[in-house]
Amino acid sequence: MAAAPLRDDQRIILHFDYDCFYASVFEVEQPILKTLPLAVQQKQIVVTCNYEARRRGLHKLQLIKEAKKVCPDVVIVLGEDLTKFRDASKDLYLFLRGFIWDGGVEKLGFDEIFIDVTDMIAYNAAMLNPHDLSHSFFHLNRQDPTVGFEFDATNLYGRVYPDGASAADLSSRAEFDPLQLRTRLLLASHLAGYLRGQLEDQKGYTATAGISTSKTLAKLVGTVHKPNSQTTLLPPYATVKDPEESNVLKFLDSREIRAIPGIGSKSSRKIISYVTASEHAKAEDGLTVRDIRLLPGMGPPVLERILSGPGAPRGIGMRVWELLHGVDNSPVGEARDVPTQISIEDSYGSLDNFEVARKAMIALAASLIRRMRTDLTEKYTDVEGEATSASASHGETGVRWLARPRSLRLSTVPRSLPGSENGHSHSRISHSAPLPQYVFNLDESEDALAERLVRELTTSMFRKLHRERTGWNLRVLNLAVTNMVDLVGKHSSGRDIGRMFQRQEAEHPEGSTAPQPLPMPNTPQSTPAVASEAVWEESDEEDEMTGVQCNACGASIPHFARTAHEVYHTSASQ
Ligand code: TTP
Ligand code: MG
Repeated sequence: MAAAPLRDDQRIILHFDYDCFYASVFEVEQPILKTLPLAVQQKQIVVTCNYEARRRGLHKLQLIKEAKKVCPDVVIVLGEDLTKFRDASKDLYLFLRGFIWDGGVEKLGFDEIFIDVTDMIAYNAAMLNPHDLSHSFFHLNRQDPTVGFEFDATNLYGRVYPDGASAADLSSRAEFDPLQLRTRLLLASHLAGYLRGQLEDQKGYTATAGISTSKTLAKLVGTVHKPNSQTTLLPPYATVKDPEESNVLKFLDSREIRAIPGIGSKSSRKIISYVTASEHAKAEDGLTVRDIRLLPGMGPPVLERILSGPGAPRGIGMRVWELLHGVDNSPVGEARDVPTQISIEDSYGSLDNFEVARKAMIALAASLIRRMRTDLTEKYTDVEGEATSASASHGETGVRWLARPRSLRLSTVPRSLPGSENGHSHSRISHSAPLPQYVFNLDESEDALAERLVRELTTSMFRKLHRERTGWNLRVLNLAVTNMVDLVGKHSSGRDIGRMFQRQEAEHPEGSTAPQPLPMPNTPQSTPAVASEAVWEESDEEDEMTGVQCNACGASIPHFARTAHEVYHTSASQ
């Protein structure tokens, strides 16, 4: 069997997942809802529900009809307009980022955040007084030693994995070592606890956190105790004498492969069918990471062979082998508060005449401009002619664009014709054009700008896709701004958002007809595409957690859209 990959546990990463996020947004608006069973509805489905509702038997992605049967007094609120969730998500992201020093803070979807706190932990570990650990002070500011919080460094804060273990106890001075992983994790547990407390006290949101040395481990260990809790994955991580003594392996081994973030659903399926086909393996049911890891002959070359194919990144075998051992060196991305593209999409029962299409495009354009204003602008204060943070105490204030997209892309999906296969992504066609500057005018109303954009540009883009006046029938319209260009360079917080744009998705040539990602996989078909894509689109750049870059065309494809994308290339080359 291949050797286990080497671990690098120099970093400390926190992962936050807000509890029943959409439901919490409504609870913060109306606190009375906290005491009632609350469900958030999109189309006929409960997209999420609060924990009171979960105690009464409700769960995510349940039919509304069923939810009412199980809990007749359930309070149902409509959650199809994502504006308030997006705004809350951004607000909480900026709030948390305000506490963090130089490490990255990365948003995943609307309700998850990764934070690299390595530098804050190293600084505070060095400041600990081993003679009086129970009266420690966690410094949140290097310049001002009074900013921070008191804590007891003889104990770890919150829950741990393995459950009930006391291995992180620092009470014995002889065991104290500021560089030791367990000291650093202990400090991080207190920081996570403090940040969760701040989120709740200042913003009214509870979150569940995971604490470890990588994104994958932090995210996974956080799911052990939910809601409003936190779990630290205890050392030992790297074990020289007996690798099986590692808590990382113990933790991962009992999990199903599809539960490991970073291994897409398609890769999981391929690995499972390879392993179950082997005579050594058990049936598919109950197949764990351990079964796969210990399968004779298993290793990077075998995984590379199983997983390679169109769209698979090079080295995927090694990457998955590492993940099976809990090794994940992917960095916490920076400044993910500005998306690489914004797209608004809606689906229609039947869209077959130009006037209806024009109205639909105006509605999409108005939403798009609203989104651009939320996501791509910030309030600022100009001190001595220099753009600086909004918290500066004097100077000229205003609203400015952080980034400007250069292109507008219109995509349509036809209603499938009788006899043809339904819903293939290659039936989606797109046309792109330069985005006119007037859309950035913040003095004009969103509706007026939307009307003008459709009148002067989008209509002719539509005609390029559908030349005939009649004879077409569309199922989906999507309007997107792409080709984002950083305007501020150095972000006001000191973070370089330019770096983010280096990872920007490869743009399709003007007027190209490459396929776009499909809506997120775990949203039921009946949920409007505008709801589903908006949740995940901010994460659809090249990232192990969320997607891959297509080797054939360079487009960035979320894992869930990979199959459809491959179908596109296969059919195009035939
Ligand atoms: P989740 O984190 O899966 O759910 P949650 O935060 O509501 O609940 P938990 O306490 O278990 O973490 O998803 C975050 C939000 O995304 C959720 O509030 C609603 C939305 N959502 C969808 O739009 N579609 C989906 O399929 C799911 C699962 C969630
Ligand atoms: Mg959540």
